[in-house]
Amino acid sequence: VTFRYGFRFLVASAFVLVAPTLLAQVQTALMPLPAKLEMTSPPQLLRLGPTFSAAITGPGAVDPRVRPAVLRALHRLSRQTGVFVAEKVSDGAEQVTLLVTVEKSDHAAPQQLGDNERYSLVVTSSQARLVAEAPLGVLRGLETFLQLVQVGTGGIGLPAVSIQDGPRFPWRGLSLDVSRHFIPLEDVKRTINGMAAVKLNVFHWHLSDDQGFRIESMKFPKLQELGSDGLYYTQAQVRDVIEYAYMHGIRVVPEFDMPGHATSWFVGYPELASAPGPYSVIRQFGVFTAAMDPTKESTYQFLDVLIGEMAGLFPDAYFHVGGDEVDPKQWMANAEIQAFMKKHSIANEEALQAYFNQRLQKIVAGHGKHMEGWDEVLQPGIPTDVVIQSWRGQKSLAEAAQKGYEGLLSNGYYLDLMFPASAHYVVDPLKGETAALTPEQQKRILGGEGAMWQELATPENLDVKLWPRLAVIAERLWSPEAVIDVASMYQRSEVISRWLEFQGLGHRTIPRRMRERLASSLMAEGSAAALDTFAEVLEPVKEYTRADSVGGYTQSTPLNRLVDSIPPESDDARRFRELVDHYLANRQANRADLDAINEQLLRWANNIPKVMPVLTSNALLKETVPVANNLQQIINSGLEALDDLKSGKAATPDWVHSQIAMLEAAAKQKAEVLIQIEPGVRKLVEAAGQAKK
Ligand code: ACM
Repeated sequence: VTFRYGFRFLVASAFVLVAPTLLAQVQTALMPLPAKLEMTSPPQLLRLGPTFSAAITGPGAVDPRVRPAVLRALHRLSRQTGVFVAEKVSDGAEQVTLLVTVEKSDHAAPQQLGDNERYSLVVTSSQARLVAEAPLGVLRGLETFLQLVQVGTGGIGLPAVSIQDGPRFPWRGLSLDVSRHFIPLEDVKRTINGMAAVKLNVFHWHLSDDQGFRIESMKFPKLQELGSDGLYYTQAQVRDVIEYAYMHGIRVVPEFDMPGHATSWFVGYPELASAPGPYSVIRQFGVFTAAMDPTKESTYQFLDVLIGEMAGLFPDAYFHVGGDEVDPKQWMANAEIQAFMKKHSIANEEALQAYFNQRLQKIVAGHGKHMEGWDEVLQPGIPTDVVIQSWRGQKSLAEAAQKGYEGLLSNGYYLDLMFPASAHYVVDPLKGETAALTPEQQKRILGGEGAMWQELATPENLDVKLWPRLAVIAERLWSPEAVIDVASMYQRSEVISRWLEFQGLGHRTIPRRMRERLASSLMAEGSAAALDTFAEVLEPVKEYTRADSVGGYTQSTPLNRLVDSIPPESDDARRFRELVDHYLANRQANRADLDAINEQLLRWANNIPKVMPVLTSNALLKETVPVANNLQQIINSGLEALDDLKSGKAATPDWVHSQIAMLEAAAKQKAEVLIQIEPGVRKLVEAAGQAKK
């Protein structure tokens, strides 16, 4: 028997196909799922132990990335299993546990778009053979190898599998904003580790915005000196990150956002702007009016020097110039700019930005780079050499591809919106308006990028915002189009989420640490645990509700409250809702679910008296007392509905109405968090109203 995706590999329904004693050996979760995977039958295990050995063969072994990657994998193997593995690699030996073969070396650095990432991984009970045509395939295959390792009843090891794999899209990235809140070097590197672990290959570094210019310029030092509060990367640090990313199979594309989103530049160089200033670094969030003056030659002279400097620092062939959300107010208010437009027959401010972009593209191309920009740079007269990154959606991407531009999708992949993984998972660069493109046009869709805007994220909780949802986006961009099963995605992402912690990420441990801090004033045993249990049912508010809230946030608002400690998606709340749905799908057959639902609600209810003293004892937590009260009401409502559902007598319409009204009120955000078991409870209440005798 061969298990393929047709059987929804790894979902519960597949487990019944094998004997229960073999479960441990097939309980392996990969993310992204490989293009082709077969498990041998009967299942076999390649055991891991202290005799583990590794070797590299093939002409490609000379590539500088290969040997360090294998050594890192051995180190990580030890870390994730606790098994001592010698961190040495021999050359050419065939009788080893892990044999890596690289058929060809590759061109010199930097990594290029479209470099070969394919690999095959065949695991038998005696050996794992990883074969790649080129070095990047080794890096990708090693991640699959590490993800396959599990602790099972048969011991620690890998199931015997045969995998043939390669990416669906050549551009799979993360765009990380380091302007709104600076992200220090070590956190950037940790993020790159995570990206490599899920086979992403582009780190898009959003280095400048209104709230900070985050990179050292030797040519224009006032950019970082006056525009960053001292929070910027030196050029040596940038080179370090680029080398680090290269060794992890990741390209680094810098973004310098212009002509809008550029206030931080104008603090040191107000002559670039379209109004005299003076300017200071923006502390609020939103879209601001300051914009470069596209009519002055001195602006282009400045940009030519700066882009020349940065193009020399960043070896990637692509250079991102932003271009999004330009507010034309300064242009409209400036008589000289208006006169320039009239003289050059520039009809409106949009056309003025198009003029700016045409000039900019020549500068970027003059320094040997392809220009990349957000949707707004797609205007008449822009050469098709420009890559369009779409924050607006597939429609905009489809238009770009029809006109001959290459493009990337980021709409639908905004991780700062706090949407569940499933919302990102269903977004496909080639579904929607792009589905109607010709095959030739579709080839211009290079892939996509998750985007993490940092208004409300910090170095402390960055991991919580990124993982594991970024792994889910990575799967969408790597795995075959047909890999769309949401249940399978969630089952695997829970496993991969734990695995990612062993790769050095902190998305599971950081929330606990933040709550230890919140609970510390009480000095009572169990306080943080009570807070953890309380937080299980909560999620942060969605979209930009927080940023828009009364009083607003600034760059220096502490992000240390309960809402800052909770992951964007509650697995516990999701599983609760799934349990309710399972029960309601067949109320007779699934009556046992009622006990499980009851037990879960009681667990959260019994925690409320424990958490209440924690919430009232701390200035940062007081705001969540109403949340706990609302949770109590929601749970009471659910327990009453369960009583009716168990007894089979229908609840009265009056009761249902009053409960729904109460639930609606209790579901409204308080302290910027949502109680995410409420939709499940509401379904129980509605069902209780229709209870059968
Ligand atoms: C963007 O979201 N303004 C790129």
